[in-house]
Amino acid sequence: MSGVQRIADLLAREQPGGTVRVRGWLRTVRHGKSVSFLEISDGSGFATLQAVAPPELPGYEETVRQLGTGAAVEVTGELRESPGKGQRFEVHAEQVVLVGAVDDDYPLQKKRHSFEFLRTIAHLRPRTNTFGAVLRVRHEAARAIHDFFHQRGFIQLQSPVITTSDAEGAGEMFEIAGGRDFFGRDARLTVSGQLEAEIAALALERVYTFGPTFRAENSNTSRHLAEFWMVEPELAFCDLDELVALAEDFLRFVLTRILDERPDDMAFFDQRIDPGVVDRLRHVAESDFERLDYGEAVALLERSGRDFEHPVRWGMDLQSEHERYLAEEKVGRPLVVTDYPSAVKAFYMYENDDGRTVRAMDVLVPRVGEIVGGSQREHRLDVLRRRIAEAGLPEEDYWWYLDLRRYGSVPHAGFGLGFERLVQFATGMANIRDVIPFPRVPGYAEF
Ligand code: 4AD
Ligand code: MG
Repeated sequence: MSGVQRIADLLAREQPGGTVRVRGWLRTVRHGKSVSFLEISDGSGFATLQAVAPPELPGYEETVRQLGTGAAVEVTGELRESPGKGQRFEVHAEQVVLVGAVDDDYPLQKKRHSFEFLRTIAHLRPRTNTFGAVLRVRHEAARAIHDFFHQRGFIQLQSPVITTSDAEGAGEMFEIAGGRDFFGRDARLTVSGQLEAEIAALALERVYTFGPTFRAENSNTSRHLAEFWMVEPELAFCDLDELVALAEDFLRFVLTRILDERPDDMAFFDQRIDPGVVDRLRHVAESDFERLDYGEAVALLERSGRDFEHPVRWGMDLQSEHERYLAEEKVGRPLVVTDYPSAVKAFYMYENDDGRTVRAMDVLVPRVGEIVGGSQREHRLDVLRRRIAEAGLPEEDYWWYLDLRRYGSVPHAGFGLGFERLVQFATGMANIRDVIPFPRVPGYAEF
């Protein structure tokens, strides 16, 4: 931590005094009759620092009086207790250097801007309260994820972005132009690193990937991106129950870390974005998740008396409205739904003895719906070949995946966490486009 946040943290413990130097961007500027007030943000934390610039400063008229919101400055001065409202301390400026001037048409003025508008200026939105906080929470979540897996002996695997097999078998891959000329066959952007993670898990026992994934699905919703980051642990000698327990521990660990490490940012989300989000996360971090199998979930939905847009019947995939009803109204906390019909899930999931369901699990949370999807994997060669054929997929694309079932196959399992959905859940931000630095969605890939 550096700059303004470090000073704020120091001040929380010690009396002010001494000279400081801060560098950052002006969040607001007020020019009074004889002094100027500069609110400086450097992104190191939620805190900003107010500098008071008196007229006897060298260059006061020529420089300080001309400063506008958005300008980059370096201020040196003495920390003093502030007589004003809104902050306990301020810098009494002894020198103000204009590092980067700002043109008059700077779009981020003090008024509140809509998130839709801010998306059109994604090169400037990290300077706002909200996006600074989102980016810091994102960072903390990523750090917690690596720590969690490292502590438990997982090895990180860098899975490829360019691939020639469809890991989900859903036909939602972006084609790479010129792939055939270059690679000698059609190449696409990956939808998941899972199949490669399985290769590694069957050697290193427990691994995880953390990288960008791509889906060419035309979903214009508040929960879908065409490019998103996924975290995919994969474990050998593991069944579905152990996997569910891991997913619970994992989510609780990451949420606890965010609450502990970013209290200022989380207080902001609680006050301005989603009242109650901090209590909700604490509750999740402290409680066991509810567990239902798909049949029980369908029965609950049928008995709900709700008039869902997609009618409920055994065999359908759960839609977002169903997931949210279950998580928000029926259970009121995260729940894990297991053993879905095979027809609505991917070809690689372990087939149950009933022949019509698979050992799948989805973690559903209030407001976001599905945040994690995973399964025990089909490790029996004959069943997997049949499932690939039933899914209408070309067996030759998966020769190496099938080989793994011939050379030392073991029960194994893994899941995928949508990183942006996690950040959405943690911050209470309503739209997934506002928790990724540069969203890619149908019709939009600027920046
Ligand atoms: O459920 P999904 O499709 O599962 C897989 O890709 C498996 N290969 C994971 C595994 O078992 N290793 O995706 C996993 C998660 C979802 O639960 C959701 O959180 C997120 O990825 N996700 C998306 N996030 C943002 N935009 C999209 N278009 C997403 N599609 C899935
Ligand atoms: Mg899924």
